[in-house]
Amino acid sequence: MEHRMTVKRAGEFTYDIEWHNTFEGLGNAVEKLSLMSRKACIVTDSTVGPLYLDAVSRQLSPLFETVTSFVFPSGEAQKTLDTVKKLYTHLIEEHYERKDILIALGGGVVGDLTGFTAATYLRGIDFIQIPTTLLSQVDSSVGGKTGVDFDCFKNMVGAFHQPRLVYMSMETLHSLPDVQFSCGMGEVLKSGLIRDLSYYDWTLAHSTELLAREDEALVRMIKGSCLIKKTVVEHDPTEQGERAVLNLGHTIGHAVEKLKHFEMLHGQCVALGTVA
Ligand SMILES: NC(=O)c1ccc[n+]([C@@H]2O[C@H](COP(=O)([O-])OP(=O)(O)OC[C@H]3O[C@@H](n4cnc5c(N)ncnc54)[C@H](O)[C@@H]3O)[C@@H](O)[C@H]2O)c1
Ligand SMILES: [Zn+2]
Repeated sequence: MEHRMTVKRAGEFTYDIEWHNTFEGLGNAVEKLSLMSRKACIVTDSTVGPLYLDAVSRQLSPLFETVTSFVFPSGEAQKTLDTVKKLYTHLIEEHYERKDILIALGGGVVGDLTGFTAATYLRGIDFIQIPTTLLSQVDSSVGGKTGVDFDCFKNMVGAFHQPRLVYMSMETLHSLPDVQFSCGMGEVLKSGLIRDLSYYDWTLAHSTELLAREDEALVRMIKGSCLIKKTVVEHDPTEQGERAVLNLGHTIGHAVEKLKHFEMLHGQCVALGTVA
């Protein structure tokens, strides 16, 4: 089975999403981009770093003169301009230039923050998404929305900036806590309900394999969600209208999130909102 799909980058650009069981294919996938970069900075958080930073570095080291890493504490509370500032400082001190690249290794927090930094550092440099949560694999890593929170306002500052590549390794889902996995499933079921009932039915029919996190079933499910998201964002890249269907369950979901003082996870609230 071919585990790749191509997403059009607004107007002229396209990028690939690739699915693999491990990080072994990452070097090849990045090499195919024929980048002019001399440096790559892997951005990750304090939970994902100890698990996967070495494996990703090993793949990238042969391709760049220098590979550095920037690790920040995990959690939504770090998705701020303060963390972006620390990352800018790292990039400046390490002499990152326009052609160099950032690698977002982590969930949606890492992806959004790295994408925003890439969108703004030197007026925009390239970045690659390596999403490691189910939610980021089915949702946040595709579509080019990047940004950070500002005071208590979620995603208040941001930019549309498309990645050069999205690389997903199914092994990352085996270390993901159940509650985070369920959050991703909330977005999966939402995608099926808005666009593709046969996909929704397939997901329910294969719940045993999916909950056992069997790679083959996971790839099929994640691909299905990405296909739905890709179709929607290709038609409406900057959320002028149609893209809003992706927000099913989010009006009530956001209200629950707020009333629960953000103690419940986003995916849980969206799932409740969708049911409502
Ligand atoms: N840009 C978009 O289109 C878009 C869409 C949806 C959500 N988002 C954003 O995404 C964020 C939520 O993403 P998320 O749910 O991935 O949260 P997250 O990035 O905080 O990850 C959740 C937790 O899981 C840990 N983790 C990540 N990968 C792991 C792994 N493989 N094994 C074990 N632990 C792992 C993280 O360290 C973190 O503690 C929010 O900030 C939201 O605003 C963006
Ligand atoms: Zn959402």
